[in-house]
Amino acid sequence: MKRGSGHDTSLREAALRALDNAYAPYSNFRVGAALRTKTGELIIGCNMENSAYGLAICAETLAVASAVPQGLTDFDEIAIATDDSEPTPPCGACRQVLNEFAPNIKISSYTRDGKEANWTLEELLPHAFVLNPSRGRL
Ligand code: THU
Repeated sequence: MKRGSGHDTSLREAALRALDNAYAPYSNFRVGAALRTKTGELIIGCNMENSAYGLAICAETLAVASAVPQGLTDFDEIAIATDDSEPTPPCGACRQVLNEFAPNIKISSYTRDGKEANWTLEELLPHAFVLNPSRGRL
């Protein structure tokens, strides 16, 4: 769902910079991601593929996995950037990873030529799986 455009250029630009470092020689589908916490920290990720295809890590998951060791889990928004012609939503696995820490996170996706889409995680992952319903919702 569209939420308005150009609301956070720094987050978009961070995702586009991360896209430049994406390592995707097997799929050639390069992805960059940038997370912003509620206190303004930015954490980036890119997809990272491997000769053993199943070891590929998505950009969004890598950003979360980089933030958590820094003690950063209070995410407000994630921006995704690709070279595709249309904005790409996060895959199902990344939706579940984001839900663990930020069930209310805003998601923005960008193309290089300026197209944008916006969703909330609740829209993209209704009825998320939660092992203990109180976890991640305190
Ligand atoms: N990919 C991501 O990085 N994020 C997504 O949400 C969808 C898929 C990556 C994984 C793989 O390296 C490539 O895109 C093709 O699936």
